[in-house]
Amino acid sequence: MEQNISIAIDGPAAAGKSTVAKILAEDYSYVYIDTGAMYRALTYKAIQEHADLENEELLKEILSDTKIDLIPSGKGQLVYVNGENVTEVIRTHEVTNSVSIVAKHASVREEMVKRQKDMANGGRVVMDGRDIGTHVLPEAEVKIFLRASVLERAKRRHDENLSKGFESDLEQLKLDIARRDKLDSERVIAPLKKADDAVEIDTTSLSITGVVEEIKKIVKERL
Ligand code: CDP
Ligand code: CDP
Repeated sequence: MEQNISIAIDGPAAAGKSTVAKILAEDYSYVYIDTGAMYRALTYKAIQEHADLENEELLKEILSDTKIDLIPSGKGQLVYVNGENVTEVIRTHEVTNSVSIVAKHASVREEMVKRQKDMANGGRVVMDGRDIGTHVLPEAEVKIFLRASVLERAKRRHDENLSKGFESDLEQLKLDIARRDKLDSERVIAPLKKADDAVEIDTTSLSITGVVEEIKKIVKERL
């Protein structure tokens, strides 16, 4: 796409954000930025250092020593922490179940938002997360908020786990997703929330292609 616009995609876990954001970025020759990977990378580092995840000062300090690089690759985005490839290890159960604790701290969010704004400078970016339309890119030309029922989202993660040969428990996934939704939506700083000017898409019964097509229509209308 010729135009330099920014596309913000927010929504809860497994609503389909990263899948559709990657497709859009590829089709438009834009850069894809997965902000959740940055919170996961910090969480991974903090766990490695046996940090108390409730200790905001400590987490702020760890973050200031943590260089996070998101590198586009044929297989998706690679994530590096101080030069170490953490692409896979940031997706473990342990990180997934701790990340919302780390992400609630004001000073952590302040630094992350600063880094994310710098990465998006100049547009031609598809960025996904929880607060992109509301805080990171409030001026984004296109803002999308994806939803899907908890059951559908748990099923998606379940299928994903099984296809990778991992063990998976649908009931546990439902509980984990609902818990993370609650923590992300109820935190004081930049909670998960649809921006007033975002377009909401319920993906519960939509295919990935269906969601991508809907977003492309919205992009066309905005240009
Ligand atoms: O992929 P999934 O939707 O499971 O999660 P993610 O996008 O990797 O985000 C992991 C966690 O990071 C979320 O549950 C939030 O607690 C936090 N996060 C955030 O607070 N703000 C963002 N912009 C992105 C993620
Ligand atoms: O990034 P987010 O956590 O919002 O979700 P995702 O990782 O993009 O999507 C979670 C899973 O749901 C992936 O395996 C997708 O292929 C699948 N998905 C789907 O089945 N139907 C959709 N409309 C969107 C995603």
